[in-house]
Amino acid sequence: MKKLSISSIQKCKGSRKLVMITAYDALFARLLSESSDILLVGDSLNMSFGGNADTLSATMDQMIYHTQAVCKGAPDTFVITDMPFGTYMDETTALSNALRVYRETSADAIKIEGGADKAHLIKHLCDNGFAVCGHIGLLPQSVRAEGGYKVKGKNEHDALTLIADAQAIQQAGAFIIVIEGVIAEVATRVANSVSIPVIGIGAGNGVDGQVLVFSDMLGLYEPFVPKFVKQYMNGAVAVKEAIEKYADEVQTRSFPDENHVY
Ligand code: KIV
Repeated sequence: MKKLSISSIQKCKGSRKLVMITAYDALFARLLSESSDILLVGDSLNMSFGGNADTLSATMDQMIYHTQAVCKGAPDTFVITDMPFGTYMDETTALSNALRVYRETSADAIKIEGGADKAHLIKHLCDNGFAVCGHIGLLPQSVRAEGGYKVKGKNEHDALTLIADAQAIQQAGAFIIVIEGVIAEVATRVANSVSIPVIGIGAGNGVDGQVLVFSDMLGLYEPFVPKFVKQYMNGAVAVKEAIEKYADEVQTRSFPDENHVY
């Protein structure tokens, strides 16, 4: 698939759904990129790959390392890098960390969590030449502040706040927005309220595309499966069965056989 540009991503709005998926390494990036428009190096890697309870301890160094790997594995796919918690607290910090992403990786864009409250940061980054993806609704980086993962858009006030957030982010210069954990009808209203693509995760079918965490949708991450995740394969079972077979063949000396020796 030909690498999309920002303008071709934006032209998809209203014509075809965008396919985004997370990727954390070169091996999977190559596989996942075959049918995806955009790869997101999400800070969710701090949970599924880092083994942590939330995303909050992810660092810039980690994101740079994983983005470098993803860009090498999928050089012809549009890549967005998540800015981890604490790396965009103010304009100066945001700019210097975003600079690291562009200088040290070939990522095409960065993503920051937050709504109208982050619009000034998004504007500062866009004014300085960065392509920025917004992220509204359920914000995983706010899990400790909010005391858990809370679905958003449950009342009209919430809905209007989300619409205002999306419009503020668009106005600030973001080229795309991720909307997470939002009542489907509200997410649809949010998508209809802006002219840039709105990509949903746990936000129903009325948005401009979908994103899933690859280890969730491949059934590899067992500790917790959110309601919105569809598992397209049972990866954990497949891996465990393969390893069990390997262990058994090692024990019974049927591996290596004559086809696998020099
Ligand atoms: O970190 C991540 O993987 C994300 C997705 C949940 C959108 O931000």
